[in-house]
Amino acid sequence: MPIKVICVAGARPNFPKIAPIMRALGAKERFEAKLVHTGQHYDDALSKVFFDELGIPRPNIDLGVGSGTHTQQTASVMTLFEKVLEDEQPQVVLVVGDVNSTVACSLVSSKFRLKQPFTCTRGTRDRPIMIHVEAGLRSFDNDMPEEINRKVTDCLSDVLFVSDPAGNVNLAKEGTKAERISFVGNVMIDTLLAAKEKAMSSEILSTLGLQEGGYGLVTLHRPSNVDDPEQLEHIIGVLDDIAKQDVPLVFPVHPRTRARIEDAGIAMDESRWFMTGPVGYLDFMRLMAGAKVVLSDSGGIQEETTVLGVRCVTLRENTERPVTIEEGTNVLAGIRRETIMPAWEASIAAEPSGRIPRFWDGKSAERIADYMDEMFSV
Ligand code: UD1
Ligand code: UDP
Repeated sequence: MPIKVICVAGARPNFPKIAPIMRALGAKERFEAKLVHTGQHYDDALSKVFFDELGIPRPNIDLGVGSGTHTQQTASVMTLFEKVLEDEQPQVVLVVGDVNSTVACSLVSSKFRLKQPFTCTRGTRDRPIMIHVEAGLRSFDNDMPEEINRKVTDCLSDVLFVSDPAGNVNLAKEGTKAERISFVGNVMIDTLLAAKEKAMSSEILSTLGLQEGGYGLVTLHRPSNVDDPEQLEHIIGVLDDIAKQDVPLVFPVHPRTRARIEDAGIAMDESRWFMTGPVGYLDFMRLMAGAKVVLSDSGGIQEETTVLGVRCVTLRENTERPVTIEEGTNVLAGIRRETIMPAWEASIAAEPSGRIPRFWDGKSAERIADYMDEMFSV
């Protein structure tokens, strides 16, 4: 009997992370990997496009939870995911990243008892092995919902696959036993490297009438930046000044942010702003690669720009991905005018330098699958 692995994905940043893992597990005879889509993100532009472009197999199970408050969303995933575990009786549950779907499925799996115990190198057990991919990241900011999700998921997971060297340090400081931790590199970068050639032939620049290196690329969706109308208006005002002085800004707008811009009645000058809905993964990579600078509050985009060698100005007070600053092209700009403008100026003053962090080499998912294979070699 193959070892059954339930892989979970729910929101946009999960899809490029789960894609190479599904592929790598599929290449091992030992495993039967099934994909559960929680439905946290459901718009085609935030979900289906990734399956189409990245060749992710269609989810075996779609929970269809949709939007809600944190509690509603987490609770819905938990209730429905428990039923999945009852039906599937998996030996392994694998979650990625730091969204509500991640923590919800970790909580359920950690307390779930299987009908049949199984044996692996960790002994005989009657609950699934919980695996967290992208473990150990910490912003040290509990106002960020993702920070709670990361800490809880890490605390509950049996195996912690780390992408950023800081992850090892953070987990060790929290007293995590070394045998639970493995530094495997960054699965999101597996996807980027695999898709880069295809992305570079995207025609998005000519479609939008953009010149290579002649625009800035903006994304915003952190609740701390967009949910408060004054804060949102302030950040857009600072970005608008950059657009006036330097380059037009392309802004693929996340639905959360679109709603807040409309609610706040913020009008953008169309001669300086190219507003679109969220764009597909390949078009977005082409936009990043051709940008003079990316200005964003995203987590994953800090990593992708590092590998593409494009400057990234992060519109946040902290980052859980410090390697992108220490080794990559990222600069932490904060959210005040007095800090964003100097960060922007410093960022455009020099050619982006930076190197690719260790193990961000396209082989992280293979390392994960090899490690898991080893775990069941008993
Ligand atoms: C979620 C994650 C965040 C991640 C982001 C990536 C949590 C707590 N947050 O934030 O970590 O960085 O995804 O994009 O898990 N909506 C749509 N269509 C959709 C999905 C959402 O219109 O397909 C709208 C709904 O109005 C919803 C709002 O966007 O209320 C927010 O969606 P939600 O998944 O709750 O949080 P995100 O801000 O997307
Ligand atoms: N992304 C995309 N289209 C967009 C914006 C982002 O394909 O319009 C991709 C981006 O390249 C990265 C992922 O979405 O792979 C990051 O998601 P997001 O910024 O929403 O989440 P975070 O990383 O902040 O959790």
